[in-house]
Amino acid sequence: MQTIDGKSLSAEILEELRRQVASLSGPPPCVAFIRVGEDPASVYYVGAKQKKAAAVGMESRLLTFPESISQEDLLAEVAALNSNPDVHGILVQAPLPAHIDEKTVFNRVAPEKDVDGFSATNLGRLVQEDPAAFVACTPAGIVEIVRSYGIETEGRHVVVLGRSLIVGKPAALLFMRKAAFANATVTVCHSRTRDLAAITRSADLLIAAIGRPAFVTADMVRDGATVIDVGINRVEDASRKRGYRLQGDVDYGKVAPKCAAITPVPGGVGPMTVAMLLRNTLKAAYGPFSISPP
Ligand code: GUN
Repeated sequence: MQTIDGKSLSAEILEELRRQVASLSGPPPCVAFIRVGEDPASVYYVGAKQKKAAAVGMESRLLTFPESISQEDLLAEVAALNSNPDVHGILVQAPLPAHIDEKTVFNRVAPEKDVDGFSATNLGRLVQEDPAAFVACTPAGIVEIVRSYGIETEGRHVVVLGRSLIVGKPAALLFMRKAAFANATVTVCHSRTRDLAAITRSADLLIAAIGRPAFVTADMVRDGATVIDVGINRVEDASRKRGYRLQGDVDYGKVAPKCAAITPVPGGVGPMTVAMLLRNTLKAAYGPFSISPP
């Protein structure tokens, strides 16, 4: 069993980005973050993204708003960033409060600044396999892991567990592309899927993105499969100083011994997401856009 080291792979990509940014003759790429409310996970993630942006020589801005902000006012803030030439990338951190329609907000981000890849335009480009697409960062990070570790997907069965806009749907689209490290037969499963374990057991590559701690148990994984765990669930743990621990969607202790390779939580997919965001930001600032790395 091989443990996939997302932290090291991410560090390599960040170092490559740092060199690329240092060689630019124009201004450094700049990404703007919008955070609504004080959800602790969102505060942490946006802070981590800003730190890594600085580490590779990029600029970032943080706009924070109270939970009470109206959708109209939030859309006006997005529009202002769209027309600000000093800002190359825009990321509206999800989740947004219930009174705001995320889809409407994501669609307001100018496609050429949509470094999250959540707008209808960029998702449509991904469906069309258009290299101009900005690809959502977490699925792009999964593809990067597959590429870097030489995990075979051509003609293989990739099972995506979860159908979210942020991970499941774009991951499925990426692995069904006519492309290297894609060309897979893809099945998307979710909470309503019947005989779920029978389907996940037939996966050569299982991507767990269902958002439920330790949901994937050993009986759901066949011997020799590769498992990518996207879950970052906070579960109460009195033995930890902070009162919780991070638990993936996979019951790692029981599943890992059966796998050819598996991502840990933390240290697997998470660090890759940040690296892909900054890669998208460099592309937004200096192009050309591409689904593939430079
Ligand atoms: N919330 C959890 N993951 C993400 C992400 O990749 N982008 C944004 N905008 N919000 C998120």
